[in-house]
Amino acid sequence: MKDMSEGYVTADGRQIGGVLMEMKNITLRFGGVVAIKDISFDIRDGEIRAIIGPNGAGKSSMLNVISGFYVPTEGEVWFKGVRRGPMKPYQVARLGVARTFQNIALFDGMTVLDNIMTGRLTRMKAGLLSQALWYGAAEREEIAHREKVERIIDFLEIQNIRKTPVGRLPYGLKKRVELARALAAEPKLLLLDEPMAGMNVEEKEDMSRFILDLNDEFGTTIVLIEHDMGVVMDLSDRVVVMDYGRKIGDGPPEEVRNNQDVIDAYLGVAHD
Ligand SMILES: Nc1ncnc2c1ncn2[C@@H]1O[C@H](COP(=O)(O)OP(=O)(O)OP(=O)(O)O)[C@@H](O)[C@H]1O
Ligand SMILES: [Mg+2]
Repeated sequence: MKDMSEGYVTADGRQIGGVLMEMKNITLRFGGVVAIKDISFDIRDGEIRAIIGPNGAGKSSMLNVISGFYVPTEGEVWFKGVRRGPMKPYQVARLGVARTFQNIALFDGMTVLDNIMTGRLTRMKAGLLSQALWYGAAEREEIAHREKVERIIDFLEIQNIRKTPVGRLPYGLKKRVELARALAAEPKLLLLDEPMAGMNVEEKEDMSRFILDLNDEFGTTIVLIEHDMGVVMDLSDRVVVMDYGRKIGDGPPEEVRNNQDVIDAYLGVAHD
């Protein structure tokens, strides 16, 4: 790869921008457990960045550091050239960061539409008071939000289930609804923790297409944890490989695939 200071051009000809986020010497401890050990890497504007590694390697922990949910024990997180301190979830959302979870976190009793609407809460201006005093403005705002949400529903091709309670949906569709809710926040940086785990081949192909399309159409930067190497090879521009909390590889997928440390720790062994 060439000089990275001005971004780079991917194998498929997409222009990747400058550094959006930089992780500097991140260490994360939970009591005696060291989940992340002195890891540094960057995330570039417009890139699809994968994090791979065996179970317990520290991938979800790293995503939680990126999202601001965990504050690292040591090290620094820089976002758009500014060092980031501890943040509340709404502050993270305002920075344009949204995520999905390894274990689906939706409201089962609520419809698909209402679940997706919750993703827009951080964007709603009208509070309870203004809703009471100035109903018209709140109503106009609600209509605007619904239009945004309908666009996402179209984009993810889930029109036919918009009124279905999430609890009744099969797993693959729940994952798609979770993505829809994350998109409702109109993120610049989208964090996906195993978005295709437990999916069949067809569902994985659909999800891959949505991820590529939203990166392409909206320029969304994506960090993705994924076990399926075929998916990682297809989707990602660069890959961070973790093992026992350490970084053992970092680069384009074809380079990482031929890295002996990575083969020994991960690719050569059976994993889910
Ligand atoms: N909240 C926590 N408290 C204590 N230990 C934790 C916590 N979260 C993670 N860990 C530990 O940190 C290590 C890394 O866990 P993490 O969930 O980040 O791994 P992972 O790579 O996402 O694994 P998987 O592929 O199974 O999802 C594990 O040893 C785990 O038990
Ligand atoms: Mg995990």
